[in-house]
Amino acid sequence: MTALAIATEDIAPAPGPAPDPGPVRPRMLTGDRPTGRLHLGHYAGSLANRIRLHRRYQSFFIVADLHMLTTKNSRADIAGIGPRAADMVLDSLAAGLDPAHSVFYLQSGVPEVAELSLLLSSLVSVPRLQRIPSLKEMARHAGQREMPFALLGYPVLQAADILAVKATTVPVGRDNSAHVEVARELARRFNRRYGAVFPVPALVPADVPALPGTDGRAKMSKSLGNAIYLSDPPDEVVAKVRRMYTDPARTSPAVPGTVEGNPVFVYHEVFSDRPAEVADLKERYRSGRVGDAEVKEKLAAALNRFLDPIRERRAALAADQGLVEELIVTGTERTRHEVRRTVAEVRAAMGLTTALAGFRAAARSRAR
Ligand code: TRP
Repeated sequence: MTALAIATEDIAPAPGPAPDPGPVRPRMLTGDRPTGRLHLGHYAGSLANRIRLHRRYQSFFIVADLHMLTTKNSRADIAGIGPRAADMVLDSLAAGLDPAHSVFYLQSGVPEVAELSLLLSSLVSVPRLQRIPSLKEMARHAGQREMPFALLGYPVLQAADILAVKATTVPVGRDNSAHVEVARELARRFNRRYGAVFPVPALVPADVPALPGTDGRAKMSKSLGNAIYLSDPPDEVVAKVRRMYTDPARTSPAVPGTVEGNPVFVYHEVFSDRPAEVADLKERYRSGRVGDAEVKEKLAAALNRFLDPIRERRAALAADQGLVEELIVTGTERTRHEVRRTVAEVRAAMGLTTALAGFRAAARSRAR
């Protein structure tokens, strides 16, 4: 039982044709607000999953700049959208997203999504949205004492993104799962009330635990300054790993150390291509037979082996001037085309086109 607050569930099914089977190839949509260069936390938490999944679908990747405005809307924030979006797309391609299977688009370039968000907003109650913990968290994080109207509508706008491209699959992290649940409710409620327009999107939880920061804090994040970026040069990776937080109780290589939750070993575990080396280091760490310097040196080497091909592809892609920009432009146009179709369908299903069409007919007959 979901805690639905508004009484639209018992509306009789709309008469009409059987549900549209939808697009032939299933569609996936996911994405992020424009935060800039991607780091190892993004890779472990979402990018690896996207890379694994994206060829099975028609994959759409949103740069959600309108969502960013709900918490960050200074002129400087807005001026940063372009370079940040370009960096994110560049990093995603360098890490392995295939442009032949990916549509990258800028949300603000598809203004019809805002119209869909407005139309959907009549189908959800304020208390339903107020109960979503991630929104309170975001408001607090942005230093807002009161909930901004747009932030309360964040999940409705996200539902509009998802439903506008008729996505069937939405892989997101835990902090976004409640928003996808809103999208599912809105799809069902819309279909029941006005006729079958939307596939009900499936949530694919990316259930990897957050990657800790280099400082040992629970989450790697740009704002905490504890991130290793996919685009960091090798010597920077070495320097960052040298400064990494490890077991603080360990004052000499002879002191037995703790491996569990130790970020140095978490990274070894996630990114190293040499499991035997990692097992050996763990074993010697636990029994006080290895120094932190060696563990870190091997980690930096492993991270650089992982990052080398990504950096190489990134440099090649960046040298192809205008490539990323072109992908974003064509992706945005492609998406806008899809979304316009969906919104026209939505307006027709709701009967919103009837009144004006009637007026037009009457006006035309008078003119004759
Ligand atoms: N809310 C996502 C974030 O945390 C970004 C986003 C906007 C999104 N629209 C989406 C994710 C649609 C998946 C599907 O940044």
